[in-house]
Amino acid sequence: MNLLVEKLSASPVCEVARQAKSKGIYPYFRVIESDQDTEVTISGRKVLMFGSNAYLGLTNHPKVKEAAIAAVKKYGTGMAGSRFLNGTLDIHVELEKKIARFMGKDDAITYSTGFQVNLGVVSCLTGREDYILWDELDHASIIEGHRLSYSQKLKFRHNDMESLEKQLQKCEPDKVKLIVVDGVFSMEGDIANLPEIVRLAKKYNANIMVDEAHGLGVLGRQGRGACDHFGLLPEVDLVMGTFSKSLASIGGFIAGAQPVIDHLRYTSRPYIFSASNTPAATAAANAALDIMMNEPERIQHLWDLTDYALRRFREMGCEIGNTSTPIIPLFIRDNDKTFLVVKKLFEQGVFVNPVVSPAVNPADTLIRFSLMATHTFDQLDYALEKIEKCFQKVGVLEYQLA
Ligand SMILES: Cc1ncc(COP(=O)(O)O)c(C=O)c1O
Repeated sequence: MNLLVEKLSASPVCEVARQAKSKGIYPYFRVIESDQDTEVTISGRKVLMFGSNAYLGLTNHPKVKEAAIAAVKKYGTGMAGSRFLNGTLDIHVELEKKIARFMGKDDAITYSTGFQVNLGVVSCLTGREDYILWDELDHASIIEGHRLSYSQKLKFRHNDMESLEKQLQKCEPDKVKLIVVDGVFSMEGDIANLPEIVRLAKKYNANIMVDEAHGLGVLGRQGRGACDHFGLLPEVDLVMGTFSKSLASIGGFIAGAQPVIDHLRYTSRPYIFSASNTPAATAAANAALDIMMNEPERIQHLWDLTDYALRRFREMGCEIGNTSTPIIPLFIRDNDKTFLVVKKLFEQGVFVNPVVSPAVNPADTLIRFSLMATHTFDQLDYALEKIEKCFQKVGVLEYQLA
């Protein structure tokens, strides 16, 4: 008897997938045969992409592609070692310096993915006697990070400042208290209440780390993120960001005070024991960062689309939670119905992402609709019309279309 195979044959997560497949509504691992843009080709058919995190639509920008190609030509394809040893290029250092300046911090280091940043940072800053305070809807990579830490972990209710304060009151005043939040929450699209978090951090002498994966390129001056949106960058100790969303590449960074970044340089295991980011990915992120800084009209168009979509979804009567960003959750509150809507919209030429249990509570299932600066209003109108009709057909919207 193969115990491992037997145990995993009964995996509840795989069971959800199996059931969805048997009902013909399985929505995952759809194979894209084209470039990643506002329109993609799947099974030879063009569909509009409303499920991407490339908020600035830069994955096909000629300057970003040229930078990646030039880096391959000059440095080759792989680093074959970690930053610590043989894997540091001049372009890694250049990018880190640029990010530190942009965020107004002493220094920054880059990792090969955003996930590794959170894993490597949250796990190694605080000791057994210290505290990590985290929002219950923080990204999985933050959760994995603190699971690796020996510190005491205190969860607070989502964006609930009373709950955060209660947890802060439990902490020993002279121990480190690190509050870790997403700046923009990845599935719900709402923004962390940073003004209040900063106020509480001052009151209880706590430190703050903000994950700007979804704030970068979307909020703040030149797309600096949620902290800058509130004018609070100087008050936030550590700013984390990824290259995999607005910056059209892969990798991530952490920026902060010199002693903290130096500590990470010598102790953060995913930084030290993993090969450094490829030349192409590093150069692409650098080029995308330049475009983000120099072409504010992209961010403006993203917001024009966002304001319009938020208004239209509200007018339709869709339940969209507390979002105020290009990430728009359309709550369905039923696993199968969520899969069904994704399938029907896909048939109509609209790609959106399902978020179902066990990733969220079965009563909180949703469709994640996200915008890119390269979408046109015509594309958006097409998607909105299909969504309205589909929601009405499957009974998500209660009223009847005229
Ligand atoms: C909030 C947040 N943090 C971190 C990550 C990890 O980033 P990456 O995909 O660049 O590894 C993600 C990715 O989905 C995210 O949404």
